[in-house]
Amino acid sequence: MLPQNFDAVAKVDFAFYFIFGISIILLLGITAVAGWFVYRYHHSRNPKATDISGNLWAEVAWTVIPTIIVMAMFYYGWVGYKALRTVPDNAMTVKVTARMWSWVFQYENGKRSSVLYVPQGTPVRLDMTSVDVIHSLYIPAYRIKMDTVPRMDTYAWFNPDTRGSYDIFCAEYCGMKHANMISTVEVLTPEEFEAWYADANASEGAGRAIQVFETYGCLGCHSLDGTDGVGPSLKNLYGATRQVVMPDGTSRELVADEPYLRRAILDPAAELTAGYAPVMMPYEGTVSDDDLKVMVQWLMHGNQVSLDAGRDLMMAEGCISCHSTDGTMIAGPTLKNIWGRSVTVVENGKERTLTADRDYLIEAIVDPSRNMVKGFDPIMPPYEYLTPEQLEHMLEYMRSLSEPGADGQ
Ligand code: CUA
Repeated sequence: MLPQNFDAVAKVDFAFYFIFGISIILLLGITAVAGWFVYRYHHSRNPKATDISGNLWAEVAWTVIPTIIVMAMFYYGWVGYKALRTVPDNAMTVKVTARMWSWVFQYENGKRSSVLYVPQGTPVRLDMTSVDVIHSLYIPAYRIKMDTVPRMDTYAWFNPDTRGSYDIFCAEYCGMKHANMISTVEVLTPEEFEAWYADANASEGAGRAIQVFETYGCLGCHSLDGTDGVGPSLKNLYGATRQVVMPDGTSRELVADEPYLRRAILDPAAELTAGYAPVMMPYEGTVSDDDLKVMVQWLMHGNQVSLDAGRDLMMAEGCISCHSTDGTMIAGPTLKNIWGRSVTVVENGKERTLTADRDYLIEAIVDPSRNMVKGFDPIMPPYEYLTPEQLEHMLEYMRSLSEPGADGQ
């Protein structure tokens, strides 16, 4: 039962066993005395009750002994409490945000996770709050349990000195899916933790590419999500078969491979995709080799990177704890086939039906209170802190859940 050398564990346990032991002794003692009195002073043995008017020593004993016992209980309780409240200076801080019904752990470098990864041997301070109702972070292995309260900061700390996986529960009833508000502390070796921590943005590559596309103004004409614009969408472009028109008016079919993607950026008019006007400027000499590489890489692998980043993000942000990806209903609508679904929303008490398109989904994430889907409770917090790249990843993931054969895996 004691996997830790975390000081507070032994102290809290001692206080518990001390109080428990005294309680057992008192229970047995009082029961025995009560039994003895029933026997000894039964009417048949003691027909006439003795009237005792006072006994100084008895009074002193029943005042002083319980006082000493209670003071001792307080002392050991205080020792455990102090150990739980005194955070060492070298502690690493993790911000904890509780919400119905998930935990978000945010690290000093901005990395967010729904599982609490910590390096073995480094004390961890948890700075906690809640965005909706009162929850309570409970990690039995470290004997810590602390409420998280909206608009209030609370803290707890522990020293993960033994590798392993330990349960995290919510210990405050917080609504329908209270029991689902579970996670784990994963104690990694310092090397494993460093590797996990340094991989700060799995989406960095994709995020950088989207920035580059924005810098060169590509996204004004080419969408990332498959919608048609002034130019063809960049989504799933790589490997697609294209009908292109040469400057001399002849046309031919080609496969959008890597060399083609480069040519299409550097000299788009040489092989113009059929059906589009020749309005794109050649980027030859304008775009740096580095940026060109980033763009082509994204076009080749980015859709997949973005999809993975979207799924990781939606798990880390706790979306998946209320919105299933397989069609089952939790607290919110399922994400399966969400894209293009027709939904009935309630705004200011008025119902209307709309199509869950890109704009609606962004609004539903950033400011969910505006167009609540009919039949669901308005409990989702606004996610206005998400960056455009992060939203793009989420949309990409949701779109993938709405494709034929999508199973959310
Ligand atoms: Cu959160 Cu119970």
